[in-house]
Amino acid sequence: MAEPIQKDLISYDSMKEQVEREVFAFLDRAGLGVDDYPIPKISFEKGTTQISFTIPALNDALLGRFITLIKGQLDNVRIHSFGDGYYAFQALNKSLFKTDNILDNIKLEFFGLTANFRCDISKKGNLGQDEINLVIEIFKAGIATGKGDPVQHLKKLGATVYEDTGSLDWGYIAGYEEVKRQIRESIILPLKNPEVYDSIAKLTRKTFESNRPRAILFEGGPGVGKTTVAKIIAGEVKAPLVYVPIESIMSKWYGQSSQNLAQIFEAADGMGGAIIFLDEIDSLAPSRDQNMFEATRRVLSVLLRKLDGLDAASSTITIGATNRMHDLDNALLSRFDQTINFPLPSAKERAAIFGNYARHLSPEELGEIAAIGEGLSGRTIKDICEFAERRWARMLIIKQLPVSKPDYKYYRHSVKLWADKNQQKTP
Ligand SMILES: Nc1ncnc2c1ncn2[C@@H]1O[C@H](COP(=O)(O)OP(=O)(O)O)[C@@H](O)[C@H]1O
Ligand SMILES: [Mg+2]
Repeated sequence: MAEPIQKDLISYDSMKEQVEREVFAFLDRAGLGVDDYPIPKISFEKGTTQISFTIPALNDALLGRFITLIKGQLDNVRIHSFGDGYYAFQALNKSLFKTDNILDNIKLEFFGLTANFRCDISKKGNLGQDEINLVIEIFKAGIATGKGDPVQHLKKLGATVYEDTGSLDWGYIAGYEEVKRQIRESIILPLKNPEVYDSIAKLTRKTFESNRPRAILFEGGPGVGKTTVAKIIAGEVKAPLVYVPIESIMSKWYGQSSQNLAQIFEAADGMGGAIIFLDEIDSLAPSRDQNMFEATRRVLSVLLRKLDGLDAASSTITIGATNRMHDLDNALLSRFDQTINFPLPSAKERAAIFGNYARHLSPEELGEIAAIGEGLSGRTIKDICEFAERRWARMLIIKQLPVSKPDYKYYRHSVKLWADKNQQKTP
């Protein structure tokens, strides 16, 4: 082990201990696990101290922060490189006129263009106290800034954040009274009145643990309103919706998927509570493709750990959506507190949905097209109404007629087209 060569230098062992102690304490206060934010790797090789750690991002704001910290702790520094994806700072000698052995001084390097952001710090021999402080401050700044703008961070990770979905309300979804009732009871009430649930648990449990649901599964075919309902919930409880399309981010991230998923959960929590919507979690279903299997296995294990570890006190709730519930891994299924089933709309509901998109039609007309449209989902009904409107518009333009409401016949025709096509598909 290297011994201090100068008396104001700190021995390797006590430097390592100091950095690790500060880092652990900081991560703990930030509510982050060591698994999710790897602690710095510290080593001493060939007479050189090396410290390396991941940073969540490397943007202008963060670089500015790093430069301020570096200037604050080191007297003379040279920018060694400052280009896309690589930024290096080299400390100079106390006397600027002495240029010998400059490369033995502390050097800070930041890497990463779009992912895998990292900071490497190296120095010949041991570090002084100022330099140790700098290492700790840079580590903290990276995480603090990464958390500072969770929306940007989430976007980079492939999630979409809907911050104001207040304009969508329950009236937008026609019918589905049972779904709405279940959601009011199991999601909205607990999110709006957490203290009531927690007080009860404090009265009943030997050891306090939250009785509030943390993960809910939406099951139903495509176009039955799962995503829309998640947005409405977010608007109603005034929380941002973090939309995570599992399938597309799995392919976008390659080997990084599991780490990124962990970061999504943390960033969402950093927003002070959010609705995390994991769409298409079927893509985590066991697959025969060996390469894919390895990736999904790792993502699945992070997801299981995150669902287990969701802080009871946190106001983040996770909603998973699937249309192949029976293909899902049992361990994953068991993590959901409740499943809400979104069936295809009944004939009465189809009429109500048509009523939302063609409010000028009479109840009899709505009933009639709903009856022909057996098996239609809400989305297809909306598509059919749009199709009818476009055909109507085209007709008005060609005939140079003033704007008016589309004729009932146009809707009936569109539904019939759909029904005939469907007939062919299912002999
Ligand atoms: N019950 C309903 N009432 C009105 N519109 C609906 C209904 N169900 C679905 N829709 C329409 O279908 C579209 C697609 O729904 P979406 O929430 O994306 O379904 P999913 O996520 O289940 O695939 C929605 O934008 C909405 O316009
Ligand atoms: Mg959807």
